[in-house]
Amino acid sequence: MNSAHFDLLLVDAHVATMRAGAGAYGVIRDGAIGIVGDAIAWVGRRGDLPRDVTVTKTLACDGGWITPGLVDCHTHLVYAGNRAGEYERRLEGAAYADIAREGGGIAATVRATREAGEAALAAQSRPRMAALATEGVTTVEVKSGYGLDTANELKQLRVARALGAELGVTVRTTLLAAHAVPPEFAGRADAWIDAVCADIVPAASVAGLADAVDAFCDTIGFTRDQTRRVFDAARAHGLPVKLHAEQLSDQDGAALAAEYGALSADHLEWLSPRGIDAMAASGTVAVLLPGAYYALRETRRPPVEALRERGVPMAVATDCNPGTSPTTSPLLMLNMACTLFRLTPQEALAGMTHVAARALGLADRGRLRAGMRADVAVYAIDEPAELAWRFGGNPCLGTLRAGVPHFRSAR
Ligand code: NIG
Ligand code: FE
Repeated sequence: MNSAHFDLLLVDAHVATMRAGAGAYGVIRDGAIGIVGDAIAWVGRRGDLPRDVTVTKTLACDGGWITPGLVDCHTHLVYAGNRAGEYERRLEGAAYADIAREGGGIAATVRATREAGEAALAAQSRPRMAALATEGVTTVEVKSGYGLDTANELKQLRVARALGAELGVTVRTTLLAAHAVPPEFAGRADAWIDAVCADIVPAASVAGLADAVDAFCDTIGFTRDQTRRVFDAARAHGLPVKLHAEQLSDQDGAALAAEYGALSADHLEWLSPRGIDAMAASGTVAVLLPGAYYALRETRRPPVEALRERGVPMAVATDCNPGTSPTTSPLLMLNMACTLFRLTPQEALAGMTHVAARALGLADRGRLRAGMRADVAVYAIDEPAELAWRFGGNPCLGTLRAGVPHFRSAR
């Protein structure tokens, strides 16, 4: 029998494997993880390591906890400018939807993003992606939607991919051209959707720059019929869909998303029982975005209890964007998901690991077991629930991304 060899061995840690059927968090105390190349080769108790194993490098985790690398499955982190002034206005009483109707909101970020060259856009967005990674994110989804013409939508997607390559983070890109009506099409939303379907979806697909297609189905976004047309265009190009659904009102968007076998329906504060049934039947993930709920001072929670009861998988993400969720802290979102939405800390961590991976159509990450991609995060905490319990501060010591160590201090 060949003796085992690991390129890297993680020791001096407890492991929250998040494996199904392995008890709370799939915990292995005094665990070890063996890595070969970019994949996990072995996970178990340190005392059960194969006797004759040889190891190129051993990495001690200071008695902390190892979790699957975090997956932030819903962000708009590539944008230019900021919206602090709009925040001040909202504090004085202006509504998010009113600001949008006056040509501020998303349109303001579109102006700034169009003006930025690719290098400038990357320079402004890089610290946001880096901040996510510093808290343990190893995979991040990034949407377009602030370009709103072919060249600028593709520019956003290219910058997202380039930042992922530069920082060593997996980036999944989502085309969100149906985010708002650009000024050139003011009052002609249907004509804009024609352009999205005829020009932008095909261009993104041909360029290989989109992994999925999303739309904003709401009173200040697009109607159900317009959303359906975008989904048909995505389907024609073989691209999976996602949807900003039921954020500010009930448009029955989640059921439409489910009809198209969507990977996820996101936000969902106004989700109806009908929408829940449709999501349960199609296996569509519910992506909960407590940062946007908090920042807009919403009072209507997504129907978490009903989603749980019906077995709809719940993911948690930052929704990092300048309008409704200007955060780069996935760990704060775990806390908010529990405190504001009443998830359990274990549900919240599942929601930012394997459930989030599922919302991106990725089956090779989000749980720690042999054969999975070697994406892990290491935290200086005493128990897994601590990740959701605290807010502020960052206990992440570092990550492995495809087996490559990125640690804050040398080890
Ligand atoms: O996820 N709802 C629409 N899109 C974003 C907000 C975008 C913005 O305000 O810039 C969201 O909340
Ligand atoms: Fe969003």
